Amino acid sequence: MDRENKQQLVTKIDKDNVPNHVAIIMDGNGRWAQKRHLPRIAGHKEGMQTVKRVTIAASDLGVKVLTLYAFSTENWKRPDKEVSFLMKLPVTFFGDFVPDLIKNNVKVQVMGLIDQLPKATQKAVADAVAQTANCTGMILNFALNYGSRMEIIDAVKQVASMVKQDELAIGDIDETVFSDKLMSAPLGEYADPDLLIRTSGEERISNFLLWQIAYSELAFVDTYWPDFSGETLQAEIIEYQGRHRRFGGLETE
Ligand code: FPP
Repeated sequence: MDRENKQQLVTKIDKDNVPNHVAIIMDGNGRWAQKRHLPRIAGHKEGMQTVKRVTIAASDLGVKVLTLYAFSTENWKRPDKEVSFLMKLPVTFFGDFVPDLIKNNVKVQVMGLIDQLPKATQKAVADAVAQTANCTGMILNFALNYGSRMEIIDAVKQVASMVKQDELAIGDIDETVFSDKLMSAPLGEYADPDLLIRTSGEERISNFLLWQIAYSELAFVDTYWPDFSGETLQAEIIEYQGRHRRFGGLETE
């Protein structure tokens, strides 16, 4: 896309209606690589570069939370070599990118079963979280070893335990009490995505944020993740801004 077209895209965005929370299912790395007769891991490597570009683009646009589905609880089923490569990616990514994150005031958070990850991955994540803890801009929230059904079951267990300990009456269980037990709770008022994007043309949710996307706008784009760019994100945000969110009610305008 040339400079003029890029500029046109930016000016089309309504700065007052940028989705606060954008969540992305980054799909198509393998097919991107296959198309080029490259090993699948080459697609993941390129996908990591996309993460950098899209993070800066989202932060520049004023997105408050960008949640990226980097590794699901089901991804362990992939060949050992691929899993091992995916586990090393956060080490490479944060090792290289934390200074840029700090420069852009971006704070790293994670959701998922982090203690099941290899020690080096855990350390890379913990270091990035600590190094960016004082950043006050966009939250870059990685879903790592994350699965939504597991998250919901875990929340149910926590609520059940509170009831058993007489800390909570069954009648007092409501959406707020329950949301508070989910892994997205630290995101506070931005826990629910406004816009969920899945790349690569697949139209599935794949166990991602099942509770949180109850009223999200869904966007399925054909682009493979390594080809996704800041401009693709801008185009999706413009599309989002053309939609009418009613949250089950009626149009107010
Ligand atoms: C899905 O594509 C992608 C993944 C399972 C991994 C996503 C990871 C990245 C984009 C890099 C993450 C970067 C950091 C910093 C952690 P696929 O392999 O399922 O693609 P396919 O459907 O074409 O096979």
